[in-house]
Amino acid sequence: MESVIFSNNISFDLSKYLNQLGYSQLGVISDSNTSKFCYPIIEKLLPEGHKHFSFPAGEANKNLNTCSQIWQWMTDEGFDRKALIINLGGGVTGDMGGFCAATYKRGIRFINIPTTLLSQVDASVGGKLGIDFNGFKNHIGVFTQPELVLISEIFLQTLPLEEMRSGYAEVLKHGLIQNANYFSCLKIADWEKQNWREIIEKSVQIKREVVEKDPKEAGLRKILNFGHTIGHAFESFYLNTDKHLLHGEAIAVGMVCEAFLSHKKSGLPKEDLQIITDALTEIYGFFQFFEADIDDIIKLCSQDKKNEGSTVNFSLLRRIGNCDYNIKGTAEEIKEAISFYQSLTSQVQLNQ
Ligand SMILES: NC(=O)c1ccc[n+]([C@@H]2O[C@H](COP(=O)([O-])OP(=O)(O)OC[C@H]3O[C@@H](n4cnc5c(N)ncnc54)[C@H](O)[C@@H]3O)[C@@H](O)[C@H]2O)c1
Ligand SMILES: [Zn+2]
Repeated sequence: MESVIFSNNISFDLSKYLNQLGYSQLGVISDSNTSKFCYPIIEKLLPEGHKHFSFPAGEANKNLNTCSQIWQWMTDEGFDRKALIINLGGGVTGDMGGFCAATYKRGIRFINIPTTLLSQVDASVGGKLGIDFNGFKNHIGVFTQPELVLISEIFLQTLPLEEMRSGYAEVLKHGLIQNANYFSCLKIADWEKQNWREIIEKSVQIKREVVEKDPKEAGLRKILNFGHTIGHAFESFYLNTDKHLLHGEAIAVGMVCEAFLSHKKSGLPKEDLQIITDALTEIYGFFQFFEADIDDIIKLCSQDKKNEGSTVNFSLLRRIGNCDYNIKGTAEEIKEAISFYQSLTSQVQLNQ
């Protein structure tokens, strides 16, 4: 399991761990935004002569082409097997920079410094690294642990609010799947005003506990996919359209739909379904889409990596704080769940 350090003083901690780890060459990988907002925070404490590689921000660049440039950069800089990489950025930088390090010369060491809420509470833990390939998300990758994950709230100061809100969906998910008490403490109104340090620590702890029991996703780890089977389908379908959803926004839609399925199939009480739909729609609003899109979205659900054969595999709640996995669903049931989500929108419109 990776070591995760919550840092109050990033300069001090990073210097300390760099000294402890030792290296022949040091390289930093960041995207165009984190090069601008986050690299200046650590640059001054890194040794002179360290190298920096920056790539254009965005999921669209989490691909083989960018990896190829990163491997070329490592080669041009003469990185040997004792070189150390710092991935400074959100989940895209961590997944891709980690993948490049884990495969360069059969693997060199890397440190992750996640700079988005989403990457701090989710992508930083669990050792999954990889890239998208020919339109398939996270299609090529490996499991490798970083030497260290260094988490500091300081980076969140420049993160756009919509990116904070996107990451918060994973926080809410952690409460829903594992800890009812935690979920009830999470703010819904004024969600942006919270003790983020406490939230990040608690969410990381929950994710670590799950991953520790099932590192390679043979069973239990699948509960982390609650909301993701339908959520990913929405995310993929509207990618590159003007209705484009951030990951967490799509997962919020997915969690409402899958909470409905949980009520239908795994005993989630009606009151819990109501609490979940109220909370998620208050924070994320209602995503409007066309009736005509639904069949294609359902088709995308069945292409999910978690499926075996043609049935769709869901992770569903038994109640708030308790999640089951490997529950088979049909296209008809998914359609019903999406209709439930749509019915919420029309209820609101009627009430207005
Ligand atoms: N490995 C895992 O277990 C895991 C888990 C969840 C998600 N992911 C992956 O993570 C990615 C999503 O992560 P993300 O939401 O962090 O995406 P991201 O890395 O694209 O970051 C989101 C946006 O915020 C910008 N940004 C990052 N830090 C900033 C800062 N401090 N100030 C200002 N702007 C900043 C980025 O440049 C980008 O535009 C996806 O590719 C997903 O597949 C991986
Ligand atoms: Zn997610």
